[in-house]
Amino acid sequence: MTSNYIHGYSAAEQQRLLQQSQYWQDRLICPGLDYQPGDRVLEIGCAVGTTLGILATQFPGIEVAGLDRESNQIQQARQYLSSINVPVDLQVGEAENLPWPNDHFNHVYIMWLLEHVVEPLPILLEAQRVLETGGTITLIETDYTSHVVYPQSEDYDYLAHAQCQLFSQTGNPLVGRQLGSLLVQAGFAGVQNQPVGFHVFQGMPDQALRQHVEYCLGFLEPMIPQMVQLDLDEQRLLEGLAHLQAIPDHPEGAMTTIVYRAQARKK
Ligand SMILES: C[S@@+](CC[C@H](N)C(=O)[O-])C[C@H]1O[C@@H](n2cnc3c(N)ncnc32)[C@H](O)[C@@H]1O
Repeated sequence: MTSNYIHGYSAAEQQRLLQQSQYWQDRLICPGLDYQPGDRVLEIGCAVGTTLGILATQFPGIEVAGLDRESNQIQQARQYLSSINVPVDLQVGEAENLPWPNDHFNHVYIMWLLEHVVEPLPILLEAQRVLETGGTITLIETDYTSHVVYPQSEDYDYLAHAQCQLFSQTGNPLVGRQLGSLLVQAGFAGVQNQPVGFHVFQGMPDQALRQHVEYCLGFLEPMIPQMVQLDLDEQRLLEGLAHLQAIPDHPEGAMTTIVYRAQARKK
């Protein structure tokens, strides 16, 4: 099963996950959270622990736990969190079958996991089981059809469509749009799902456009060989990639990305 995971488990990918968490720290990971000292927080699909590290640092005094199906990720998470002095309860396991008792956590956090899953509902039901009554769940996932650029290019659109086709093999590239109804189906209360839009353009401070494009290239480029395996046109995929690479140098270059943040609580 783990070999089907689109991003794989190489050292380069693990490093990319660290950069990804740093990139989203203030933009997405922490806003909207109200974690208090003493709260127990579980991240399901915690990978190498970089988002857990941010939560533990930004909300001092919380107790963090994490689970991932891949032992290599958990081993790396253990090392990383120990290096930044974050005590953590880490487990290798399946999101659909959590190794914690009922009502154990005050909060569950899930980020970039459900896009890799064909059946997300069992994971949300399991998250609900380990939450105490009134405990919160936060889900952060994107919609890969929302990653658009200016100027447009048919080759970039071909690449973006190919990315969605690839994600559809093992998960759901549109899952961000589905989060609200999934939480309702799972029986959570107070369900909200909000699109959070990011638009970066030429001339913004801190090379925001270049930073965002480089972030996207970081996950897109390594997936090209898998897209080629789907019988797609390699030349067009590479032309699409080249178009994206050139966006930060275009005088009117811009990119938009929508990410969905859903929150709810256990009844
Ligand atoms: C993109 S990474 C998550 C990144 C992490 N949430 C973060 O913010 O850095 C997705 C992770 O989900 C894990 N995963 C995928 N399906 C899973 C499942 N059914 N149960 C547990 N972990 C799973 C993968 O092994 C991978 O490490």
